[in-house]
Amino acid sequence: MLQRTIYCGSINQDSVDQTVILNGWVQRRRDLGGLIFIDLRDREGHVQVIFNADEMADKMPVAEKLRSEYVIAVKGLVKEREEATKNPNMATGDYEVIAQDLEIINTAKTPPLYIEDDTETDEEIRLNYRYLDLRRPKMLANLKLRHQVTHTVRNFLDDLGFLDVETPMLTRSTPEGARDYLVPTRRGAGKFYALPQSPQIFKQLLMGAGIEKYYQIVKCFRDEDLRGDRQPEFTQIDIETSFMTDEDIMGFVEEMLKKVAKETKGIEITEDFPKMTYDEAMANYGNDKPDIRFEMTLKDLSEFSQNTEFGVFKNTVANGGQVKGIALKGLADEYTRRTADDLQAIVEPYGAKGLAWMKVEDGEFSGPIARFFNTAEDYAIITETMEAEAGDILFFVADQSEVVAASLAELRLHLGKKHALYNPEELAFLWVVDWPLYEYDEEDERYVAMHHPFTAPQNMDLSELEANPGDARAQAYDIVLNGYEIGGGSIRIFEKELQEKMFEVLGFTEKEVRAQFGFLMDAFEYGFPPHGGIALGLDRLVMILAGEPNIREVIAFPKTGRGVDLLMDAPSDVDPSQLDELHLNIKKSKK
Ligand code: AMO
Ligand code: AMP
Repeated sequence: MLQRTIYCGSINQDSVDQTVILNGWVQRRRDLGGLIFIDLRDREGHVQVIFNADEMADKMPVAEKLRSEYVIAVKGLVKEREEATKNPNMATGDYEVIAQDLEIINTAKTPPLYIEDDTETDEEIRLNYRYLDLRRPKMLANLKLRHQVTHTVRNFLDDLGFLDVETPMLTRSTPEGARDYLVPTRRGAGKFYALPQSPQIFKQLLMGAGIEKYYQIVKCFRDEDLRGDRQPEFTQIDIETSFMTDEDIMGFVEEMLKKVAKETKGIEITEDFPKMTYDEAMANYGNDKPDIRFEMTLKDLSEFSQNTEFGVFKNTVANGGQVKGIALKGLADEYTRRTADDLQAIVEPYGAKGLAWMKVEDGEFSGPIARFFNTAEDYAIITETMEAEAGDILFFVADQSEVVAASLAELRLHLGKKHALYNPEELAFLWVVDWPLYEYDEEDERYVAMHHPFTAPQNMDLSELEANPGDARAQAYDIVLNGYEIGGGSIRIFEKELQEKMFEVLGFTEKEVRAQFGFLMDAFEYGFPPHGGIALGLDRLVMILAGEPNIREVIAFPKTGRGVDLLMDAPSDVDPSQLDELHLNIKKSKK
């Protein structure tokens, strides 16, 4: 075989008049009779190759056989193209390779999808033939970007003295709050390993072991409802440190993310990442992971609404609810009565019973509910509260606070995107801090840990914790990028008594604590250092850096929204003898 001397995509001015050997795939072929053009593609790009009878008469019959995706080796002379034939849309568009020799290494059937960017191929087909899909330059670029991110992270953490330590995949259930993937074993009837939802407990034990600075780029497994930014198996950049404060941890993680932005996207972020409390995020953005690339914050009209004529607003507040709104600046004219009403569909899935709106005119409002707000005083209060002026359109939701927050948060994001209110290239990092320690689970009627049960409270006073769990704040922090939670961490509890109290508030019995976390409670008794850490969602981080709409685009072999691996056809049936060995019977499905 003719062996490559250069990648197709690496051909440049230095290659001119050189004889090169290229190995790659035929991207496209045009036969002009006696003259055959192909685009040859490899990992680094593509280049035009010309076969003509003058240069290689004997091999022309071979060139005539070339088809898309054939694997070939070509020897040829690199030439600069004539000015008129240069292709500015192609990285190697100034050059062409005049072939002197050709070898077909392998043939290909017609692929079921176009190996090109910007194809509208159905995702099922793409996932079924992922090895072909990954040949598309964009997918290759995503995998390269992912590599650059992990490479940068590894170097950064290595420089700071972090040790990469592996932790088990076959382990027992960990309390990250999702369902476990269980693994049966032939060694014990009815006994199962669980795949880790995160290495949380192991990394804490490593601190107990004196490792001090641990990291791992590690797979985690969670059987939860999937969304665009969730996969059943995903990757964390997992970090734990001893003797550091939350400020220390946020500090170096911020440096690391700045470095990633610089090395992968050339974006230099010099300012500190802003910090926002959880309460501020909920009040002003309606969610705990605000996209701060644009303003349009939520404004509270509840107090004003107590005395309004508009029944919907007044009654909601009287019943303990809220009225909040957002102002879309300067774009009132873009909306007709119908298109404004249509936005109700955005908020309905979040429980909103309606979406009230009005346009701000000079000294008055217009729209279906404007008649309820027709005094000069109303105009003054509303425009001041909403920070609105003529030309704006205002949207309001009246409901219980959770519904108001969720609906307006979604509407805000919808309008921000629809009206291009932000620069899609911008990277807006944000720390969200001062999290509640607990969250009340209405269904189970008990408190659950907002982060996880090893998170330390800000106030270590045990009696306080017990008396008002709802008010307790955690030493926890989330890192948000462009409206996505890309990581979360905390300072941990490292004392047995406090950890016991924590479990008690969460409703664990002593026996349950012993059974599930006995080893950790024991470990705390042998000189455990103070510690804390964080885990970043690598897939989400890379997705945002790549400008992709979902994490499947940055994972080589992802699962579908229903958790299926289409390529391997998993999950799948297994041989009955395997079940026997594992002491398992399959229940007849109910259907
Ligand atoms: P947490 O559960 O917040 O914290 O997870 C950390 C980060 O992992 C990402 N992530 C996911 N990405 C893709 N698919 C999923 N199903 C998925 N679930 C989570 C998110 C999230 O911010 N052990 C703690 C960390 C710690 O306290 O140090 C933990 O796992 O970006
Ligand atoms: P109605 O009085 O029910 O006809 O509603 C008048 C306007 O208020 C309509 O535009 C509704 O979409 C809107 N609306 C109704 N309920 C709510 C609510 N809970 N929050 C905000 N707007 C509402």
